[in-house]
Amino acid sequence: MNPPHDFQSIRSDDNNRWFHPWEFMPDAGHANRAIASHGEGIYIYDENGQKLIDGPGGMWCVQIGYNRREMADAIAEQVMRLPYMNPFSLTSAPPARLAARLAAMAPGDLNHVFLTTGGSTAVDTALRFVHYYNNIKGRPGKKHIISRENAYHGSTYLGALVTGKDREKNWFDIASPLAHILPHVNPARRPTGMSLETFCTEKVNDLEKKIIELGAANVGAFIAEPIQASGGVIVPPDGYFKRCWEICRKYDVLFIADEVVTGFGRLGHWFASKEVFGIEPDMIICAKGLTSGYIPLGACLVSDRLFSEVSGENARGASFGSGFTYSGHPVACAAALKNIEIFEREGILDYVREVSPHFLERLHGLRDIPMVFDARGMGLVGCVECTVAHLMDYHVDEERALELDTDLGARIDRHCHELGLLVRPLVNQCVFSPPLIITHQEIDRMFDILREGIVRTMHEVEQELGIKVA
Ligand SMILES: Cc1ncc(COP(=O)(O)O)c(C=O)c1O
Repeated sequence: MNPPHDFQSIRSDDNNRWFHPWEFMPDAGHANRAIASHGEGIYIYDENGQKLIDGPGGMWCVQIGYNRREMADAIAEQVMRLPYMNPFSLTSAPPARLAARLAAMAPGDLNHVFLTTGGSTAVDTALRFVHYYNNIKGRPGKKHIISRENAYHGSTYLGALVTGKDREKNWFDIASPLAHILPHVNPARRPTGMSLETFCTEKVNDLEKKIIELGAANVGAFIAEPIQASGGVIVPPDGYFKRCWEICRKYDVLFIADEVVTGFGRLGHWFASKEVFGIEPDMIICAKGLTSGYIPLGACLVSDRLFSEVSGENARGASFGSGFTYSGHPVACAAALKNIEIFEREGILDYVREVSPHFLERLHGLRDIPMVFDARGMGLVGCVECTVAHLMDYHVDEERALELDTDLGARIDRHCHELGLLVRPLVNQCVFSPPLIITHQEIDRMFDILREGIVRTMHEVEQELGIKVA
């Protein structure tokens, strides 16, 4: 812990020297971020000693909560035993054991585990594997990748290529014509009067039509998050994921499930693909909760079928020429193994299934606030979306409403911070995915604060617009 008088200089170093992810460049140099001092359980303490519920669980990753002594011990022990080994030519117990554990947890025949440094590098590996696979199989045209609006698949060049959020792509060049983004799958934004079933069919048809348009011989893979997390926790209609998987099988298109957020307990299972959505993908990507965020690590799981088709006698003498200095890092893998042990010993998967109905009930309870457009979620992940346009009955100017919307998440975040809760603002939405050990009472406290933060923001907006909502 830093003594309080250090915080000034931390802020100054941070403002002037740390070029942050998603840096809002107009504010660079004077962003004045809150300083996280230390964590304990589901709480983060800021530089003023304020105790904050960590609503987003770090970035959807601190599943077992902060300050776990056993994690520190496991990490320290591995550092002393073997902090690093060259993964190209050597192996050691932690990565080998972890690969075996992940293969055993995964659905179907996902038995080959490529270890990476995080989610983006795991996505990159999966996409490079699709291309490698089809080259080895003598299908050099089968390279196009289909993704969806609002998808987030990472910040490497390939991860960004298949990301379907304009905000993430603006001002960058995307060189490849190989990515195709399907329209959104957000049920809350379906046309008025359209049933969920019809919407689902329309969305599945989007995929099939795109495969037909490109020609199945040219489509390598479809990549999808079971729930689009940073796209705003978009839960697609029932049956959508399974029907997409069936379409992919029909056209021999590989199905990549990006479970960076939905894996490792967020929906009450190690992986959600089979247990929640009833599918066995060709590849699964995971990261984040794999080590509960204590150390960076990611993995790309590949099925026996794919692996056997391009290995051994089928490999045509090729190497899979992709990997990282820190692939299978022994310290990260030791942390993952300890994390899994804690999950099992504490019954965290069962607990998430037990507590999540309460979480969802409190989440849906926010819908009665006039400024709330939608509150949605699954397991222990949720999003509340607000819009000033919802106050339109009060004759708000549309342009002004849209302008105010862009700042709603940040305003709610500011109020919640004052009240003792961190939320993750995304334009007019706030997403949260608390540590999985959160208790019933802590869930209540979290939603009480969130409600108050939204209501305060709404009153602020009312004042600025000179209206009064009942
Ligand atoms: C679904 C999904 N895929 C990939 C990534 C990228 O993971 P990382 O930030 O570890 O590279 C993220 C990160 O938020 C994600 O949510």
